[in-house]
Amino acid sequence: MSVEQSSLVLLNISASEVNNLKEGINFLRNKSDGKSYILYKYGETMRACKNMCKHQGGLFIKDIEDLSNRSVRCTKHNWKLDVSTMKYINPPDSFCQEELVIERDEDNTLSLVELKPPNPWEAEPQVPEDLAFGEVQVTYITHACMELKLGDKRMVFDPWIIGPAFARGWWLLHEPPHDWLERLCCADLIYISHMHSDHLSYHTLKKLAEKRPGAPIYVGKTERPVFWYLQKSGVKLTNINIVPFGVWQQVDKYLRFMILMDGIHPEMDTCIILEYKGHKILNTVDCTRPNGGRLPHNVDLMMSDFAGGASGFPMTFSGGKFTENWKAQFIKNERKKLLNYKAQLVKDLKPRIFCPFAGYFIEAHPSDKYIKETNLKNDPDELNRLVRNNSDILTWTPKPGATLDLARMLKDPTDSKSITEPPAGIPVFKKSWDFDTYLVTINASVDNEIFLYPSWIEEYFTWAGFEGYNLVIRMIETDDDFNPLQDGFNYLVDFLDLSFPKERPSREHPYEEIRSRVGVMRYVVKNGLLWDDLYIGFQTRLQRDPDIYHHQFWNHFQIKLPLTPPDWESFLAKKRQHVQ
Ligand code: FES
Repeated sequence: MSVEQSSLVLLNISASEVNNLKEGINFLRNKSDGKSYILYKYGETMRACKNMCKHQGGLFIKDIEDLSNRSVRCTKHNWKLDVSTMKYINPPDSFCQEELVIERDEDNTLSLVELKPPNPWEAEPQVPEDLAFGEVQVTYITHACMELKLGDKRMVFDPWIIGPAFARGWWLLHEPPHDWLERLCCADLIYISHMHSDHLSYHTLKKLAEKRPGAPIYVGKTERPVFWYLQKSGVKLTNINIVPFGVWQQVDKYLRFMILMDGIHPEMDTCIILEYKGHKILNTVDCTRPNGGRLPHNVDLMMSDFAGGASGFPMTFSGGKFTENWKAQFIKNERKKLLNYKAQLVKDLKPRIFCPFAGYFIEAHPSDKYIKETNLKNDPDELNRLVRNNSDILTWTPKPGATLDLARMLKDPTDSKSITEPPAGIPVFKKSWDFDTYLVTINASVDNEIFLYPSWIEEYFTWAGFEGYNLVIRMIETDDDFNPLQDGFNYLVDFLDLSFPKERPSREHPYEEIRSRVGVMRYVVKNGLLWDDLYIGFQTRLQRDPDIYHHQFWNHFQIKLPLTPPDWESFLAKKRQHVQ
């Protein structure tokens, strides 16, 4: 089906208002709907955009630190946008702002116009039919994993049910229902939203593949393939389906689904809409800005993340402003902002039922006690309270194994049978984790032969393919408490010319010191894994000077590393030859 593009006039600017536009930044407002815009004028050149931050929709104000009068600052988390280029300057080298088209009429009036593809889920609309009790049931398993019964089909989202995620940094908070593997094995569809290991868990999928290698898995057509690591993982899954964005996938007469991309990380993150007999379920998973903020309103059930804390920032940072006090205050503010943002998003979309999920992890390993105690997460019940405030949206905070009957809940929210709780006595929270099994595998990399040859460093960073960027890092291998190992590697990498100097260069350069637990670092190096295992998994401690986020560097190492690991076999063959 062809998707037509239409245009929408967002703001008309009269001839006299045009004459009053000043050079530089102009903040404009549409008085009829209250929406705000930014118009940048430089002589005859003009550019315009919505006054809405790409991060989480914050409002921009003038950036008083910018004397050139080209940038604006977001009031929420201080992102900065250069409106003369429509590029974000904080984070540096990161995103572009979508521009509006400026149309000028002969009478010198201007219109700000948005080119608007139709909302893809509106294609071939289905009229909602009555649902029988029990026809649509949603069961919470763990973290971001839900099982949906839709007529005679079963669908599972994001099964992370055993083992850690992000190397050894994240562990499940909840005890999954004991029959999780049977549930997974009989799913007709398994949707995996993105490659992060709390959504794509090779530990979990290994168990599935042993029983049912042909389990049908569906992922979005992201630039970096979701299953880029499948072959190396050794997990034998044979039925992975990659589907295009924004197109209904018809499963049977009644059921269809559509995968949408994230506006901030379209190269790797997705969300999903399901429709069964005309009833929509929206799962925004943990997209930062799902589908660029354009989502269906009035769905029957919406699920989204809520917790925060899925980043090494700021708890793994030290030096400069990163005092314990500053970090605690930052976490408190950020969590609150996230909560308000989520609540507002839900209230704007007005689903009938809202369910916060995908935030139930814990930094359970004893060596991560500091992170566990300081990296506080939001409380789903608090979000639900905010959502219910002045709205008639129903909310559900599920326990593992609890089931929501959609038809009952929609018909009568007070019906006690609309939620089936797990049997009494079944533990909700995990009390122990099988640390050793997983840590042994990770730490086995420490003694790998590769690391007998210091030139692995050059081999690895050449393979990584990041250079021509003014940044010097010092990498230090450490023990579990981030103390440098006496016999560990401690080296500099200069990314300007990809050299490995003994001392920091004399030119002016930004600098980062990255201490990493030796086991995880070597595991990542050996297998060519992405650095989210290090950063999101709290396996590093960082200092930086100056205190800026090097988006290009982190984006490369967390998302853009080559799809196949370094060729260590050839490396070792050469080394061995040399030794003989
Ligand atoms: S920086 Fe703008 S919303 Fe977060």
